[in-house]
Amino acid sequence: MIGTGNIGTAHARSLAREISGAEVSWVFDADSARASALADELGAHVAPSAEQLIASSDAVVIASPDAMHAEQAILCLDAQRPTLCEKPLAPTVGEAQRVVDAELDLGRRLLSLGFMRRFDPGYVDLKAAIPSVGTPLIVHNVHRNTFAPYGLTSAGTLTNSAIHELDINRWLLDDEYASVQVIVGRPGPDTPEGEFDPMLVILTTERGTLVEIEAFVNAQYGYEVRCEVVASGGTLDMGDGSFITRRADRAVGHDVPELWLGRFGEAYRRELQAWVDATHRGKTSGATAWDGLVATITANAAVRSITEGPQAIDVPARPALYA
Ligand SMILES: NC(=O)c1ccc[n+]([C@@H]2O[C@H](COP(=O)([O-])OP(=O)(O)OC[C@H]3O[C@@H](n4cnc5c(N)ncnc54)[C@H](O)[C@@H]3O)[C@@H](O)[C@H]2O)c1
Repeated sequence: MIGTGNIGTAHARSLAREISGAEVSWVFDADSARASALADELGAHVAPSAEQLIASSDAVVIASPDAMHAEQAILCLDAQRPTLCEKPLAPTVGEAQRVVDAELDLGRRLLSLGFMRRFDPGYVDLKAAIPSVGTPLIVHNVHRNTFAPYGLTSAGTLTNSAIHELDINRWLLDDEYASVQVIVGRPGPDTPEGEFDPMLVILTTERGTLVEIEAFVNAQYGYEVRCEVVASGGTLDMGDGSFITRRADRAVGHDVPELWLGRFGEAYRRELQAWVDATHRGKTSGATAWDGLVATITANAAVRSITEGPQAIDVPARPALYA
């Protein structure tokens, strides 16, 4: 485990206690006291560097800050280690492209990207239900954080937070983006001068579906993620993620879940188990480095849109490795 902050600690505990087929043997953090505390708790060793951790481990999870992901992912690829890299692949397109290039040079996929919503039961059910309401026309997304976890910048909101929606809508619709426009308004609470929060991100897909995202990182009242698909024959509302509300044929209703495990706790567990299982089979799981590059290209086009208006989204041809 590289990075033993919030998510690195949660992933390491889960890998050590809940996930079968894995053990946490080495941890590394720039803050060695933090790494030692987690190592003591889990019976792991503290590595003196990321390089040594990678050399000593069968597989690696990267949970360091965004800016370190690309460099550490390339170290893992150079050492040919199966790697689960937290999102985003990188904040900039150049760094994300370097990771994809390193994997293309290797000629096989070793990197899985931590877009864990692809494993969330709410989103999985939503995707499966879309054919039952016809052609998707609009997807409304809400992503509110109580406070900005890493400081509030407009670019950070798009490349770190809204990037979840940039990935999950592409996955939900099985479609690619054509354009993005970000609309900013009156600043909400504690927004620094020159930054914007909340923002509305509006994308069009190649097949013409509209994707709208409310990105609000300082919402104060709590954490909330919502998603509603408006389709030609009805709507699907994921609500708070515990059930899908279906409106169609002049009726509204939903399935009642058996139990509620916490908004994304189950998604993280499924993501980790899928990654460990795939690693044992010599495969990757979930989102790829390519998905990470596309999300970062889209997020950076959104950042430019804040000052320059609507932007086309130009994604290079998909390499065969990611077909
Ligand atoms: N998938 C998700 O929903 C999700 C949720 C939370 C965080 N994340 C991602 O996980 C990453 C970590 O987020 P966090 O909330 O745990 O942050 P955090 O600040 O709590 O933890 C980051 C840790 O990395 C350490 N660190 C700094 N530089 C390092 C380096 N060069 N090498 C190794 N460790 C280093 C820090 O000391 C800190 O302990 C971020 O990229 C974030 O986007 C993803």
